[in-house]
Amino acid sequence: MSILSGKNILLGITAGIAAYKTAGLVRLFIKAGANVKVVMTPASKDFITPLTLSTLSKNPVHSSFTNDDDDNAMWNNHVELGLWADLFIIAPATANTMSKMANGTCDNLLLATYLSAKCPVYFAPAMDLDMYKHSSTLESFRILRAYGNVMIPATSGELASGLVGEGRMAEPEDIVAFIENDILEQLPLRGKKVLITAGPTYEAIDPVRFIGNHSSGKMGYEIAKAAVNLGAEVVLISGPTHLSLSHNMIELIPVTSASEMYDATHLHFNSVDIAILSAAVADYTPKYVSNTKIKKATATFSIELEKTKDILKSLGAIKKHQFLVGFALETNNELENAKGKLQAKNLNLIVLNSLNDKGAGFGGSTNKVTFITDTEVVIEHQLKSKSEVAQDLMQQIMTQQYA
Ligand code: CTP
Repeated sequence: MSILSGKNILLGITAGIAAYKTAGLVRLFIKAGANVKVVMTPASKDFITPLTLSTLSKNPVHSSFTNDDDDNAMWNNHVELGLWADLFIIAPATANTMSKMANGTCDNLLLATYLSAKCPVYFAPAMDLDMYKHSSTLESFRILRAYGNVMIPATSGELASGLVGEGRMAEPEDIVAFIENDILEQLPLRGKKVLITAGPTYEAIDPVRFIGNHSSGKMGYEIAKAAVNLGAEVVLISGPTHLSLSHNMIELIPVTSASEMYDATHLHFNSVDIAILSAAVADYTPKYVSNTKIKKATATFSIELEKTKDILKSLGAIKKHQFLVGFALETNNELENAKGKLQAKNLNLIVLNSLNDKGAGFGGSTNKVTFITDTEVVIEHQLKSKSEVAQDLMQQIMTQQYA
């Protein structure tokens, strides 16, 4: 999973020969999970066709203020495009377009969109080496950077003119990596490590049977995604689930039983800044586990259970700098019980779900939660998707810990 996943990326293409590389750039953005729209200057269509770009981006490509169909003329709304974008990348950026951007000229759709965009803007210049060195071009770079735009510098190499020097547009892979790094560096949890437990635990009875629960793990996995999207490194300790998650910032540690989850959690706790325990850990486990499959020999059958170790409580007892978050799933006296757990387990924050609320709890893709802080501030949330709940939770942690 890339940090660009789910982002709306607007690609602006201007009339340089490097425009032919933007087909690859669109593909890389799509592969990273982004939504892509393309806006072109009219002259750039001589270098790459809108059809190629609309096919790859799966969106219409615009290059003029109205569409070309005289009978059904429609205005291509640059304001909407600019506001849609989470980030705008102009690649290749010619000397001409950069000069216009620097001076506020607005004589095509791309420039109007640039002036309307509120999101971060990146530009990747491409031109011949003498143009790249010209004082007016250098002045455009300076002004555009002063306006807050981010330049992805051209590289050196053989240019379309046959000359060798600086002016080649950065390669699409390098543009994507540059933007990903730039976004990551600015994220609020950059350099922080978050431990998350998720899913159920399975407590073995014999080699084929276990005691488990209906936890799907969705809530914990969404928290992992939300934390990574804020720049954190994540250790996700997960009981058995059907979910998969692959990201270079997430270390996924699969465990089965409460005892394995306890060990894995303690192994990592010292090195983390935040620990969020969302797993539905079994409270009891069979005292004796049979090595062989138990036969149905008797009319009744009972299993002796013993308590598992409470992972959350054990972390509350040893925590130093760590911000510790627990979950409470309650059916009655919800607030009172959750407050009791917050104190008994020495937490900074507890997330209460009530099974009395429709759409809350196990399995589904929604949840309705109430946050209770260590100063007993109670913050109730509406029914939301688990992804939104995860984002709310990370915001709440940042408000309490890093505000
Ligand atoms: N938890 C844990 N280890 C356990 C049991 C629970 O870390 N052995 C954690 C859960 O991950 C959750 C919190 O404790 O964050 C609350 O679990 P819950 O079962 O609701 O509360 P309990 O303290 O076990 O109390 P009870 O079951 O009596 O409500």
